[in-house]
Amino acid sequence: MTDTSQQDRVLIFDTTLRDGEQSPGATMTHSEKLEIAGMLDDMGVDIIEAGFPIASEGDFKAVSEIAKQAQNAVICGLSRANLNDINRCWEAVKHARQPRIHTFIGTSPLHRAIPNLNKDEMAELIEQTVSHARNLCDNVQWSPMDATRTEEDYLCRVIEIAIKAGATTINIPDTVGYTAPRESADLIAMLINKVPGADTVVFATHCHNDLGMATANSLAAVEAGARQIECTINGLGERAGNTALEEVVMALKVRNDIMPYRTGIDTTKIMNISRRVATVSGFQVQYNKAIVGKNAFAHESGIHQDGMLKNAETFEIMRPEDVGLSETNLVMGKHSGRAALRAKLEELGFTLADNQLKDVFVRFKDLADRKKEVYDDDLIALMRDSSLDHVHDRIQVKFLRVICGTEAPQSADLTLTIDGVDHQVTATGDGPVDATFNAVSKLFPHKARLQLYQVHAVTEGTDAQATVSVRMEEDGKIATGQSADTDTVVASAKAYVNALNRLLVRREKTKPAQVTGIAG
Ligand code: KIV
Ligand code: ZN
Repeated sequence: MTDTSQQDRVLIFDTTLRDGEQSPGATMTHSEKLEIAGMLDDMGVDIIEAGFPIASEGDFKAVSEIAKQAQNAVICGLSRANLNDINRCWEAVKHARQPRIHTFIGTSPLHRAIPNLNKDEMAELIEQTVSHARNLCDNVQWSPMDATRTEEDYLCRVIEIAIKAGATTINIPDTVGYTAPRESADLIAMLINKVPGADTVVFATHCHNDLGMATANSLAAVEAGARQIECTINGLGERAGNTALEEVVMALKVRNDIMPYRTGIDTTKIMNISRRVATVSGFQVQYNKAIVGKNAFAHESGIHQDGMLKNAETFEIMRPEDVGLSETNLVMGKHSGRAALRAKLEELGFTLADNQLKDVFVRFKDLADRKKEVYDDDLIALMRDSSLDHVHDRIQVKFLRVICGTEAPQSADLTLTIDGVDHQVTATGDGPVDATFNAVSKLFPHKARLQLYQVHAVTEGTDAQATVSVRMEEDGKIATGQSADTDTVVASAKAYVNALNRLLVRREKTKPAQVTGIAG
């Protein structure tokens, strides 16, 4: 059970699977969502917002199953301010040991104009929907969306109504990332002081990062009395994202001298979940990202390295192992055995069943044959690419040979397995990658448009693996794909096919679910 009795305890509400997944292109598969939820539960997240059950059958199923599997965390689903949404949300979360319904409505003048409700009508709808949610579930969170741009007197009025109607958590969203630290603190302090019944609920802060202030705004809100921070792993989320979980948690840990608040997070699990979310969402973490970026603990300049060798505290405010970064980047090679591979993968956060390990070991040996030294990053890339993640893919790359060089046309001879049947074609293009993509389109015609094609070397050297990221768009739906291989064109083909598979999942996921009116 979550302990909220102590004043210094800050609840961590993770919305990677809802607000994070809402980010264009960040679609996760069902099994990926279950896996991430398991990791969040295991690392000590207090509340997991598992999805938006009314949005699609896929979301409903994911929230229901996460609710069934959760051991410790409260499982929360999002719902708009209508009775249908709330009922559907309850149907999904009710399986949890500790369920929560989160219902919201936009309260700022701009948002009130959308359903065309005046202040009184909206207030009535809030009373009706929060009471309905509370009749179903004794843990109800209510959010006035765009709270930071809502008139203060109206905000106080609707929060009072929500509390009287039974809300147990009041979340204050900075939906468009507009607020600044002092304002964020002042708003929370004002609400706690002015709203009758404020002392009976937990105030939460939900910040977006449009001006790069989400972490600072969240911490300022905590200093003013908020006791729940809403955040996502790697700061994933729409536009510039949400508050990054790893940043607020580590800030509270490292600067506990000036911010004396505790979370229940096992910080040594941060790196693993960060890598996993980057993989399944297709959103790579920028190298200089605080806490989880590849360079966050790298000291390259001579002065820094010298200082570090004498005393790590010279340039380090936290230890890499505090966030689960292993001290050694133990090199593996073709003589490494299965047990060493298992141990290394476990250290990197991948726990495999024996049959899975067998499959990965074959791929590892294949990589080690082509590449002298296999580093942690190579293994992470290999796991990203592992057939474990792709067994259910409708389209798979079976064979590829390209002809390229100074003489045009470059061509690709490609075999794809589509729904279990092999199809072969040869196509030409402007370079080997273009020829390969044309070959995929010939075998699996589609309307998707390539929005982004990016290649990164995983490690150094000419035998390094290349990680290719591809982003595609079809009818407003976006999906990203990734793959790694020592052959850049093979990685490109697999990344392209990976994105196509994800678009197919997305098509399925966004099939119309239930049609709902605002007041339900
Ligand atoms: O940013 C926002 O306002 C939200 C709400 C649905 C809580 O995500
Ligand atoms: Zn949000």
